[in-house]
Order: sequence, then C-alpha cells, then structure tokens
Amino acid sequence: MSLSIPHGGKVVDRILHGEEREAALRRARDAKKVPLSEVGVADLEMIANGAMSPLTGFMSKADYDGVVQNMRLANGLVWSLPITLPVAKDLADDLRIGEEVALVESNGAAGAILGVMKIAEKFEYDKTREAKEVYRTTEIAHPGVTRVMSQGEICLAGEVWMLNRPSNVTFTEFRRDPAETRRLFSERGWNKVVGFQTRNPVHRAHEYIQKCAMEIVDGLLLHPLVGETKKDDIPADLRMESYEALLRDYYPANRVLLSVFPAAMRYAGPREAIFHAMCRKNYGCTHFIVGRDHAGVGKYYGTYDAQKIFAQFKPEELGITTLNFENSFFCKKCGSVVTSKTCPHDGSQQVMLSGTQVRELLGRGEAPPPEFSRPEVVQILIKGLRNGK
Ligand code: ADX
Repeated sequence: MSLSIPHGGKVVDRILHGEEREAALRRARDAKKVPLSEVGVADLEMIANGAMSPLTGFMSKADYDGVVQNMRLANGLVWSLPITLPVAKDLADDLRIGEEVALVESNGAAGAILGVMKIAEKFEYDKTREAKEVYRTTEIAHPGVTRVMSQGEICLAGEVWMLNRPSNVTFTEFRRDPAETRRLFSERGWNKVVGFQTRNPVHRAHEYIQKCAMEIVDGLLLHPLVGETKKDDIPADLRMESYEALLRDYYPANRVLLSVFPAAMRYAGPREAIFHAMCRKNYGCTHFIVGRDHAGVGKYYGTYDAQKIFAQFKPEELGITTLNFENSFFCKKCGSVVTSKTCPHDGSQQVMLSGTQVRELLGRGEAPPPEFSRPEVVQILIKGLRNGK
C-alpha cells in the first residue's frame, strides 16, 4: 500500500524557476496583460502546483464541454468543475491565438505578474447551461451562479506557467504544494491518509467524523479551504487560529497534518465534492470524507447528493476512497456525538445546530454550547468576531 496515484498519473509542475523564470518575466513585462479574478488567481496556483493535475492550463472548449456535459475531460478522465479563464469580449478581441499573455493580479497588488499563458483558443460559452449542469440551478441567489453570470463572455484557453505566487499569500507555514504533502506523508510513514475539506471552524460533528476516519487510516490531512468564500462564512484567519487550538488540545500531533487548500469555494455541492476529492488525491490522500450536504449552500442539494454522485464512476476512475458519513449530532442521552446509525433516541435528546445558527449566536457574542463546539474554539471565534473579523 502506498500513497494515491495523482489524477492522470503524475503531479503536474508548471512553476518556472531560475533563468527560465527570469526570461518569462521579461517577456511578460512587454506582453498584453490579462487580469485574474480572485478565483483565477487560486486556479492558476493550483494548476501550477499540481493540485489540479492533470490540468496544465485553463480549459479548452473540448475539455469545458466534456466537463459541463459529462463530468469528463476530452481525454475521458473524470473532472467535475470547469476551470476556465473568462474575460470581457473587448479584451478577448484584442488577443491573437498563439500570443503569449501575462496573467496579472487584479485584487491584491493590482498588475503584479503571476504567470504567462500562450493562448491556444478563445471560445464563447453558454452560462445558463453551465449553471444548470454544474450548479443544478439557474437561480441568481446561488453564489456560484452569481459568479458565472457576472464573469466575462469569452474563455481564454491555454497552458500556463506560474512565475510568482499571489501577493496576498497567507498562512505560508501551512501552505504546502502536493509535492510537499506527499513528502511529509512518506516521511511520517503514512500509507493511508484521509483528507478533510472544510470552510468552517471544526465543530464536534466534524471532529467526530474525522476521528471515526482516523481509526482506520494512518493520518488525517486537515485541509481547510482558504480561497474566496461567501461574505458570511467565517474568515480563514480566524478559522486557522481555531484549528490550531483544537489540534493542540484534542488531537495526537503525530497523526494530523494541518495544511491549507488555496481553492475558492464554488458551492457546487455534489460536483464540488468530486473536485475536492480529485484534488486531495493529488495531495496524496487515499481517502476523503464526505458528510452531509458537502459544499452545499441553501437548499439547492439533497443532504446526501454529494455522496451519491460518486457512484456514477468506477472506483478505479476515481482512485480515491470516499468515506461517507451521516448527519452527526450530539445526543444528550448517549452523552456523545452520534448519528441515526448509532443512536436509538428521539429528537428531544438531540443538539442539532446549523452553521448559520452558530454564526448568529457568535455574532451576538453568545457561546454555542460545549456539545456543539469545544470551548477553546468558541473563545477564539467570539474574540475574533467581536474584533470585527
Ligand atoms: S464544506 O462546504 O466545506 O463541505 P463544512 O466545512 O461545513 O462545509 O463541512 C466539511 C465536511 O464535513 C463536509 O464533508 C461536510 O459534509 C461534513 N459535515 C459538516 N457538518 C456535518 C454534520 N453535522 N454531520 C456530518 N457531516 C458533516
């Protein structure tokens, strides 16, 4: 048994160093500039560092169509989310096929060069189709749909090279590329590693499913997403502080690796669960946790849709084992976190708090009960939110 095989066979490396990088930087200074959104910046970094292997650039029309329609790249590999570079028509009209452009920041240090891309293709796409297929809704209230509808009309496609990391890179000591997480897993002698995606503080239900999984693997990759999230999600820096406190007091240090996942949230529920799993496979995970309403938002997806979608593919096509968990809650009679699979008691015994309720409580400076969150985590969240985070 050894670590997972990366999606497509090898970890992509599109980061230039040394003289090659210097030469590309010189060309980029004179090239036309294509500004990247916050999502684009995260995508560039994750293509370049191999987190999105086998992608080597922003998607061609053939890949895009295959992904939107059938959740497959043109070569047949499973891929569930479009990774595109949409720009305004005016800018696209100004660019030639075969031309090398500079990919620059628009937020952060506006104009800073991050990478280069040789334009292989420009294509129009149907936003409504993308919303329907990927997000299962065309309602503009869905944050993923809002983004698709407001982005540029033309997609630029081509292989990328990254020359610089984003200027506003945070959590540097926890920012590890797939090559590094793989190396660390090997050094620790971990053959079976479970990945945990989260965009929230780790509450007792999360802790329960992580620890159930830890019973059958060698290590846990606690992999919080730190790219763009909805405005009302708890900010990443506050979450990071709470993860560190939790790990210090409640987890064996030699069985957990805390590392950040630079991706932006799409809130695409089932489709995003597959994307999350493929990326974690690239980071070296052999297992991936999918709980209730994974990557969901509002009431757009069924509670277990994100688990069911994996059944559409053969296990060898996915190359990572999902560990599915039922909705977990605290039962006062059992005195522990349980699920309907393990607890016989009725609803009157259950402490069931949603993320929204918790945010409301925290917003009022009230502490969620210990059945829901560890007191060390609550203290950090209350202090942070009071300070206006
Ligand atoms: S997500 O958008 O990143 O999926 P969140 O951070 O809330 O949101 O969830 C992280 C993981 O824990 C997901 O796999 C999710 O399905 C799972 N999860 C969250 N809450 C529960 C719960 N009460 N019971 C079971 N699984 C849960």
